[in-house]
Parts: sequence; structure tokens; C-alpha cells
Amino acid sequence: MKRYLIALLSLMIVTLISSCGGDKKDTKFDNDLDKKVANKGEALLRDETDIGEMVNYSDVAENKSKSIDRSFENAPPLIPHTVKGMMVITKEHNLCLKCHMPDKAKAEGATPMSPTHFTDYRPQIVEKDGVYEVKAKENEIVSASTDKKVNMAQYNCNQCHVPQAKTTVKIKNTFKPVFRNSRNKNSSNLKDNISEGVK
Ligand code: HEC
Ligand code: HEC
Repeated sequence: MKRYLIALLSLMIVTLISSCGGDKKDTKFDNDLDKKVANKGEALLRDETDIGEMVNYSDVAENKSKSIDRSFENAPPLIPHTVKGMMVITKEHNLCLKCHMPDKAKAEGATPMSPTHFTDYRPQIVEKDGVYEVKAKENEIVSASTDKKVNMAQYNCNQCHVPQAKTTVKIKNTFKPVFRNSRNKNSSNLKDNISEGVK
């Protein structure tokens, strides 16, 4: 019986070592994105095997939370506090607005929502003789203030802003953001740069 147990244990150790070796093998392609994606593709699809523990979302209260550096310039900031009791967000019921609307934010110690959330970047559609047309020239950046009301394309905050959980995943994140200005790590400049890259 003892022997059987020892054999089983050694088999487990060998399997463990060889699976660790497999992970190491991946890293030798560090500079070759194609090979890396090919190697990790399967692992990425096997979602449940890569998170080995229960995901516990942050329970830090809003006023105790510390903002997290942006993932890249003008990325939607991550939610650093608990969102308990705030989901599901609907057009009519949205607790996030209680603290993040610009006129409430200061008193709550919260960052006001970006001005981009109060701007409609979609061109006007006009109907003439049953034909619908976009009322904008090609490549023209259209924007209209939504008059202090949240643009309804942005009402569903957690479509873009997500709470954080402490967890470990097998796949290392090797993405390194580059910020043109260190200020952009904690604030956005999208409103001023919205037409960047558009001719
Ligand atoms: C009771 C007030 C309150 C409520 C409700 C609330 N927040 Fe916050 N939120 C805060 C405070 C305070 C902070 C920390 C200061 C800061 O970074 O804005 C914060 C931080 C954030 C940040 C980080 C901002 C940054 O620049 O890093 C995001 C994003 C955010 N909240 C989104 C949300 C979303 C989405 C909801 C709804 C699900 C929500 N908050 C509900 C008060 C609140
Ligand atoms: C379609 C995606 C999207 C939705 C929906 C959205 N946001 Fe954002 N949010 C962003 C992005 C991207 C940024 C950073 C760039 C910018 O200024 O727009 C941002 C920035 C912010 C900021 C930080 C502002 C700053 O000055 O740095 C806050 C706070 C915020 N959003 C709150 C909210 C709340 C609350 C809602 C829901 C009512 C919401 N957002 C809905 C994408 C979104």
C-alpha cells in the first residue's frame, strides 16, 4: 500500500514538473507575438482552467478606494471600489450617477464623469422623401453637447468600467502601456484628442 502511494506521489510530482516546464517553454517566444498567440490560444480558450480560485471582487468602500493607473492612455478607468448593490444598471436606475455626475462628484470625493459622456458623437440622420441620410461630410467629426444629460450611448457604465478582483491567472500579461504624459496615467484627455488619427 505504502509503495503504491509513493508511486502515485512521484507520478504527481513528475506531472507537476512537466506542466511547469510547459509554461516555461512558452516564454522563449517572448519577442514573437505570432508564436506566442499560437501557443497560448488553447489556454486562453480554456478559461476555467486558468483561474484556479474563486474570484473575490473588491469590497473596499468608495471613500476608501484609491484609483488604479489607467491600462493605457484614455482607457476606461477601472472601478477601485465595491459595486455591491449597484448592479444591474438600467437607463432608469443607475446608482453610479449619484456620485459621479459632475454636480455631485465633488461632495462625494469622486472623479466626475468625463465630458465625452455628455457628448453625442453620432451624426444627425435626416429623412427626405423616405430616404435617410447622414447629415455630415465624410470624415467630419460631429459632436453635440447632450446638455448635462448622460449620452444614452454611455448609460451602461459597466459595459466599459469594471470592478477589480484579486486573483492569479496562469497567463502573464506582458502588455506595457506607453503614456505620452505621466498625467495620463490617472486622467483622460480624450475630449481634446477625439479626432486624433482621423483625417
Ligand atoms: C457612494 C459614491 C459612489 C458610487 C455610488 C459609485 N462610485 Fe465610483 N468612485 C467613488 C469614489 C469616492 C471614488 C474614488 C475617487 C476616484 O478615483 O474617483 C470612485 C472611483 C471610481 C472610478 C475610478 C476613477 C478614476 O479616475 O480612476 C471609476 C471608474 C468609478 N468609480 C466608477 C463607478 C461606477 C461604474 C459606479 C456604479 C457601478 C460607481 N463608480 C459608483 C464614489 C462612488
Ligand atoms: C462606451 C464605454 C463607456 C461607458 C458606457 C462609460 N464610460 Fe466612463 N469612460 C470611458 C472611457 C474610454 C473613459 C476615459 C476617456 C474619456 O475621457 O472618455 C472614461 C472615463 C470615465 C471617468 C474618469 C473621467 C476622467 O476625467 O478621467 C469616470 C469617472 C467615468 N468614466 C464614469 C462613468 C460612469 C459613471 C458611467 C456610466 C454612467 C460611464 N463612465 C460609462 C468609457 C465609458
